[in-house]
Parts: sequence; C-alpha cells; structure tokens
Amino acid sequence: MSAPVFVSRDPLDSAFWSERFEQQFMPWDRAGVPQHLQQFVARFVAAADTPLATLIPGCGLGHEVAFLADAGWEVCAIDFSAVAVAQARAGLGCWAERVVEADFFTFVPPFRAQLIYERAFLCALPRSMWPQVIERYAALLPAGGLLAGFFFFDANPKGPPFGADPAQLAALLAPHFERIDDQVVTDSVAAFAGRERWQVWQRR
Ligand SMILES: C[S@@+](CC[C@H](N)C(=O)[O-])C[C@H]1O[C@@H](n2cnc3c(N)ncnc32)[C@H](O)[C@@H]1O
Repeated sequence: MSAPVFVSRDPLDSAFWSERFEQQFMPWDRAGVPQHLQQFVARFVAAADTPLATLIPGCGLGHEVAFLADAGWEVCAIDFSAVAVAQARAGLGCWAERVVEADFFTFVPPFRAQLIYERAFLCALPRSMWPQVIERYAALLPAGGLLAGFFFFDANPKGPPFGADPAQLAALLAPHFERIDDQVVTDSVAAFAGRERWQVWQRR
C-alpha cells in the first residue's frame, strides 16, 4: 500500500484534518471508549450522582458520544472538519445529531457545560494556541466544572501531536483550574503510548 500524500500542512486549517479523515489516516483514533472515561462515568453511576452536561471539542469520530449519551449524559461534540463530522455521524446512529460542525473558538454550546472532555484536541494544536484553548475552556465552564481527559506529554517540538511539558501545562492551567486527579494510562493507542496521562482539572 502506498503512503498517504497530504497537501495541507497546517493543523489550524480544517482541510488538514479532513484530508486525513478522507484517507483514513488517523493514528490518534482510539476506535472505542478509553478505560479511564468508562471508570469516570461508572463512579457517577455508582454514586447515583447527576450526569454532567458534556462538551467534546475536536471530537473526530466521536466514539465517546454514544457511550455518554447511552449512559444518560447530555453531550454535544464538535469538530471543524466537515469530513470528521460526516464520518462521526455515520457511525453514531441515533446519536448522530449530537455531533456539530463548529470551531471550538467561536462555538456556543446549547447548554452550560459541566464537563469538557479532552482527548487529542489540545495536542492537535500548536503550543502557541494553548493559552487560547485554556482561556476558552475556562470561559465555558462554571466554577466547580470539570476538564477531564487525556493529556499528552512529550518534548518533540514537531507535531501534531504536540506534547506538553508537565510543569508548563500545569502553569497554563493553574490560574483557572486545580488538578484533582492524575493517573497513568495503560490502554493508549501507539501514537500516545507511555506519554499520556488521565487528568481531571476542576474550574476554580
Ligand atoms: C487528533 S484529532 C482527535 C479527534 C478525537 N478527539 C479523538 O480522540 O479521536 C483532532 C481533532 O480536532 C479537530 N479540531 C482541530 N481544531 C479544531 C477547532 N478549532 N475546532 C473544532 N475542531 C477542531 C480536528 O478536525 C480533529 O478532528
């Protein structure tokens, strides 16, 4: 099989991502729901806690959408790649409408999000964009709201994925968030293996 050829080199351009979805080149795709998210939701169910209205930015194929919606969680997932949205919707059956084509930096969710689920979105964007991403996370969440998901740590200057330095990421998040959980991930895809952690950050 010949190697895929891509025209777009700018991950800030939706065409970059659409090309990759079109060519089925998605080394980040988990093709399922990561264990830590499953455990996070299971703890809510076990405690009979109210489900969290959840926003998923840069959802890609959005495997988590059906999982959360089936569990009774309100969920809205967005992606600015029309191809990603079409492919996600095609795979989501009755939950297809939960995926919306939109840009994270301008999108206004249809509800006040209590949880932002992060997976391979922050690391999809150059580090220079991270302050803007984190400001947007903070603006979208009320005090006590949660930013939970997978954070990629790596020193390679090239990306995507763009890895974080743990101290630098913590410094960026600390003005708005307090970290309340931090765990090793054992079911990563190869692209992230050994270099991602499950973290939960609470909005101050
Ligand atoms: C590496 S993929 C991760 C997809 C998915 N979160 C996953 O875990 O499989 C990054 C995704 O973010 C989307 N994306 C990048 N910038 C975006 C933006 N400004 N607004 C919405 N989606 C964006 C891309 O189109 C792409 O689908």
